[in-house]
Amino acid sequence: MDGTVHALKQVEPASATVALTERFPFAIVGHVDHGKSSLIGRLLHDTHSLPEGKFAELKAASDKRGGQFEWSFLLDALQAERDQGITIDTTQIFFHTAKRRYVIIDAPGHKEFLKNAISGVAQAQAAILVIDAAEGVREQTRRHALILQLLGLRQIAVAVNKVDLIDFDRVRFDAIAREITEYLAQLKLSPTNIVPVSARNGDNIAEPSANMPWYQGPTILQALDSFQSAPVATDQPLRLPVQDVFKFDERRLVVGRIESGSLRVGDRLEFAPSFKQAKVASIETWNAPTPLTAHAGQSVAITLDDELFIERGHVAVHSDRRPVLGYRASLRIFWLDNQPLKVGQRLKLKVATAKYAVEVERISAVIDVEKLQPSEASEIGRNAIAEITVRSRALMALDLAADMQRTGRGVLLREGDIVGGALVLSAEASDVDKRLVGPDHLVTRDAREAVNGHRGAVLWLTGLSGSGKSTLAMGLERLLFQRGRQAFVLDGDLLRQGVTSDLGFSPKDRAENIRRSAEVAKLLADAGQVVIVSLISPYAEDRDRARKIIGERFHEIYVKADLATCESRDPKGLYKAARSGAIKNFTGIDAPYEAPQQPELVIDTTAQPMERSLAALTAYVEPAIALQLVKDAWAI
Ligand code: ADX
Repeated sequence: MDGTVHALKQVEPASATVALTERFPFAIVGHVDHGKSSLIGRLLHDTHSLPEGKFAELKAASDKRGGQFEWSFLLDALQAERDQGITIDTTQIFFHTAKRRYVIIDAPGHKEFLKNAISGVAQAQAAILVIDAAEGVREQTRRHALILQLLGLRQIAVAVNKVDLIDFDRVRFDAIAREITEYLAQLKLSPTNIVPVSARNGDNIAEPSANMPWYQGPTILQALDSFQSAPVATDQPLRLPVQDVFKFDERRLVVGRIESGSLRVGDRLEFAPSFKQAKVASIETWNAPTPLTAHAGQSVAITLDDELFIERGHVAVHSDRRPVLGYRASLRIFWLDNQPLKVGQRLKLKVATAKYAVEVERISAVIDVEKLQPSEASEIGRNAIAEITVRSRALMALDLAADMQRTGRGVLLREGDIVGGALVLSAEASDVDKRLVGPDHLVTRDAREAVNGHRGAVLWLTGLSGSGKSTLAMGLERLLFQRGRQAFVLDGDLLRQGVTSDLGFSPKDRAENIRRSAEVAKLLADAGQVVIVSLISPYAEDRDRARKIIGERFHEIYVKADLATCESRDPKGLYKAARSGAIKNFTGIDAPYEAPQQPELVIDTTAQPMERSLAALTAYVEPAIALQLVKDAWAI
């Protein structure tokens, strides 16, 4: 192999005569045998986008074998070269017309496409749905159309391929055109064009075909050129999902991408779902005069006139056009995971930068792709499209997909993996309203931190009974106090004498124990304290919720010691009692402990003396509470 394959990438900016600033990403979908690869191969060839000599090389090879040349060979060959580690990416194929540059973001057989498309990594602005003229509309054709709708695509052109196989018969073409138009109409979609093509022979791809005088419509390239670039959603309600909050110089910058609408300096913004409001003091930019307005599509950093507690996941909105605030929503989902989804399962719903822990309350219907009829089902299998109701423990801020293209959809996550795409069909507005929102403190967090000389934080020590949590917690509290820090321990055994005295050790009670403790810890951290929490907190989900309640000041610290060690220590004789059956649900014996997967710190107390563990903990804590936490403000 010489440099020929690399040439495909270089082709992209090659033409000097075309203004190639615009890049238009689109997908090619359809039933597996209906000719997607051939269409791509033909498009590349007819737009002169192939590496030089590639076509001749493959043609010669297939002539030698005595077979007919197939355009799909081309993609196979490119894919094979990719598999050999040659740097061509068949997931991003470029070509251009006189109007603009195109990126095909789906190469057939590219398994990650759906995940990428659903998560928004690959933002197609339009799609071509390929249908075999001889076979007509198939189940997979319908499924793909449904997925396009789920992805929010509104611009779809249909290529009725292999018209040579039906002898360029207008009647048969019209029948297919009617069938797909009717199907799309049920999805509230209408095809921009329906083009009869033969990808193999080049009919109506780049040049109008002489074989179909009855067809006066555009070629595929013309159909592509007539797709509209995404309109900038400036007249829609403002949605600025917060990506991060940085401290930069003396300023706090709220950073994110405006997904819709616009904002101007002086606007009062509300950070949904918190109801907290502040005015935009400035819009910051890189080495440029600070603008007075910013709008959809722009990534911005703004400063506010008030120090609110804002974090990633909040959405800046205007309060007269807020999203629906509630705990329950009905979603149309596309399920990708091998393991079916069932009622009662827990997932994360990620919408823009917000992640909500939700439970599946109801599977209302699995959708029959043929008839678009809902039917009852108790679980949702891989690749199924379904409607479900989810409930969140925390208040959610949701837009409906019907109103808001970008913020009305999201993805479903299980243990961090994308397992589905979701479209918000409806959301039940909760009766929470501003009456629930208290006044803002007049003493700001920054002011408290400046006086204390350190930040408030929650150090969440989790581990088995006997792992050394309380010893470490009390040791750290004393040490920090001696250094003039504001520090306070919240210990499970002590809390259980008061704040949580009504709770036992069932999973449900422990969840409530963790929730209440986290709320108390948060208040103390707001008051400027370094809060050292010492709780077994055996369930990962409960700890995640504590993290959510507390936000960026939460540090999960795994105090690690194996069960045998803890049992041999048995400071309170509880392991003995648990072994004898005198106490039930004892963590490590007859109740589980889920070790943290990604704690901020692990302290292994199994072998090392307590002083060493305490020193390691202190070494972590000091920088974590230090005041000048300057992150790179522009590393978005
Ligand atoms: S948690 O699981 O809900 O986080 P927490 O840390 O508050 O537990 O309380 C644990 C303490 O309760 C232990 O240190 C132990 O003294 C006592 N305890 C009594 N019964 C149990 C039990 N069944 N499991 C665990 N701890 C228990």
